[in-house]
This record gives sequence, structure tokens and C-alpha cells, in this order.
Amino acid sequence: MSMARKVKVAVLISGSGTNLQSLIDSCADENFPTEIALVISSKKKAFGLERARNHSIPAVVLRKKDFGTEQQYADKMLKTLKEHHIEIVCLAGYLKLIPSSIVRCFENRILNIHPALLPKFGGAGMYGMRVHEAVIAAGESESGPTVHIVNEVYDHGRVFMQRKVPVLPDDTPEVLQKRVLAVEHELYPEALEKLAKEIVSKE
Ligand code: GRF
Repeated sequence: MSMARKVKVAVLISGSGTNLQSLIDSCADENFPTEIALVISSKKKAFGLERARNHSIPAVVLRKKDFGTEQQYADKMLKTLKEHHIEIVCLAGYLKLIPSSIVRCFENRILNIHPALLPKFGGAGMYGMRVHEAVIAAGESESGPTVHIVNEVYDHGRVFMQRKVPVLPDDTPEVLQKRVLAVEHELYPEALEKLAKEIVSKE
């Protein structure tokens, strides 16, 4: 039996949560250094909530519009993260900006995965199929996911890990998305493992 401590992770989602699933699956390995201790969704109907339920992971919906002020919303998110003793936050298809108080509390401990080679094809409005459409329209020969550290500007923090995939001449945005997503599911667990080991090694 492995006795190493598991670093507690919250995964923030807004949708289908296939990256959440890949992280949950990786954490099932007893030698993997993290556990998914919380899922936060910005949408009530996100399928990722069902994935959390299937694995008995605590899941909450937090929507800014349900709070009187932005500060109350940020305070609730921070309180929820603290209640679950979260040490790393992974954004996985989370479409909202993280409140700056949380970025400050979790400095260098918030990861995001983006489906293109940042710093290209990132920023506000660059999500979903739009990213792959832009990559193809620009005539790029390579694309691929980026895991980066989250700061207060969309897609702007330090690149943590990146993996390239080819863009083929006949690619549609849908075909390219599938090729990139398959690699996301390998890269995100690797990045999470790396960050968790860095944290534990400094203890
Ligand atoms: C992924 O392409 C990810 O790179 C981006 O949003 C998408 C989320 O997909 N940030 P899923 O919900 O994990 O399936």
C-alpha cells in the first residue's frame, strides 16, 4: 500500500468534463500524487457534475449571478476551496474568469488547459471550436494543448507544459479538436502530477 500523502485538487468545469474524467481516472492509481477532492461547476447542467457524482466526489454549482456582489461570490468560492483543504485548482473547460482574490491565494497553484499552442490562439473569446477554426484559418502546420499557470488575464500565465500535434491539410475544426483533445487527456494528468510533486518536494 502506498503511504504517500495525496495533494487535494479542485477541478472547475462548465461543461462536458472529459478532462475532469481523465484527471479522475489518473487519480485512481494509488501512486498518483493527487486526489480530486472537489468539483465546482459554473453551470447547473454541466455533464461533468454527473461524472463527479459517479465517483462520489463532492460537487457544487457556483454562479456569480446567484450572489449580490462579485466579492460575495469570490468569498464563497474561497471558503468552499478552504473547507475542502484544496491545494491545487485545475480549470478544465471552465469558462469564467477566476476571481483575483483566489488567484492571489493560490499563486502558482492554478492550472488551466487550453486547446492550442499558447501564446498563440488564446485570450478572451478564444474557446471551443473557435480556437481550432482560427488555427486552420491561419494555415498552421502544428497545434496542440497547453497547460499554463493561471493569473488574472485569460490564457496569459506561464506555460507549464505543451504538446504538439500536426494539423493535416484536410482537417476540419472538428477533426482537429478530436486530435487535440485526445492529447489533452494525456497532458493534463502529467502536468498535475508534475505540479503536485513540486509542491510535495518543497515540504
Ligand atoms: C478543452 O478543449 C480544454 O482545452 C478547454 O475546454 C475544453 C474542455 O473540454 N479549456 P472538456 O469539458 O474537458 O471535455
